[in-house]
Amino acid sequence: MNLLQTLIGLIAVFSFTLTTALAEPILIRFSHVVAEQTPKGVGANRFKQLVEEKLAGRVKVEVFPNANLYNDDEVFTALLDNDVQLAAPSLSKFSIMTKALQVYDLPFLFDDPSAVEHFQRGEIGQRLLTALDGKGIKGLGYWSNGMRVISANRPLRTPTDLRQLSLRVEPSKVIEAQYRQFGAIPIKLPFTHTRDALRREVIDGQENTWSNIYSQGFQASQTYITETHHSFLGYMVITNKTFWDQLPADVRRELETILGQVTEEVKARATAQARQDRQAIIDEGRVQLIALTDQDRERWRQAMIPVWKSFASQIDPEIIAVARAANARNR
Ligand code: SIN
Repeated sequence: MNLLQTLIGLIAVFSFTLTTALAEPILIRFSHVVAEQTPKGVGANRFKQLVEEKLAGRVKVEVFPNANLYNDDEVFTALLDNDVQLAAPSLSKFSIMTKALQVYDLPFLFDDPSAVEHFQRGEIGQRLLTALDGKGIKGLGYWSNGMRVISANRPLRTPTDLRQLSLRVEPSKVIEAQYRQFGAIPIKLPFTHTRDALRREVIDGQENTWSNIYSQGFQASQTYITETHHSFLGYMVITNKTFWDQLPADVRRELETILGQVTEEVKARATAQARQDRQAIIDEGRVQLIALTDQDRERWRQAMIPVWKSFASQIDPEIIAVARAANARNR
């Protein structure tokens, strides 16, 4: 190697090192719609903290809670346009993108979050994470919130009590059918508009988890909460597939490890927080809780079976069978 070649080599190494050193950190914008003290809100902030510790200078994370940047109906487009790189919409919001995930909304399908976890860890649950691959969206994992209960301005003891009640729902055909079945009026509203709609009595009630109800103060405008635990509210953490695939391999690996850790933390927190926020609502003393006995719950479940049937052509029966089996294997 002559002197010139050595010089050229040195300049190349030097400029590569300089470029790397001066490179802007990769920016990950994480948009979500809930409050920071909920399981998802805490998870998003924890992800930022760990990334900025472990990938300091290489990756920067900005978290936008409370739909400050995008609502859930906008976030899929924002993600595809690479305006945000991470989101975690509720599984019910995915029905506009794929029918398969509707399984999560079938009422009284899953007994509790641990049955859901069992299902998600299994082959079908993992396969559903790839349901949007062909649309440019990659599922990175599942986060939990908890089981849904129904709050209203009148007592709901049996499904027929739902008659004529207007309830805010997520944009899910299954959830709409669940309420239409009993003559209720489901109203699709963005999450962040719900508190105001309840306060102004534009709607009579809503369904959600304890942490979402408490963090938004929905109970302030309601008189009853029925502990139906009729469906699971969880999330798929998603990213723009091209963005993710083009990350440097070591960065991508580290981000996946961090997400794995945060996922476990979110699951543990969701269970504890549901208990804590339920108790906080009881302690406020404003709403009356209506508990369902096993027999009552079975009556609600039986009444909802026609809803399952009406979606039989859209959700693979194998998926439903495996989901049901998760309850038994979980016991
Ligand atoms: C969420 O937990 O992300 C919001 C769910 C909802 O829209 O009710």
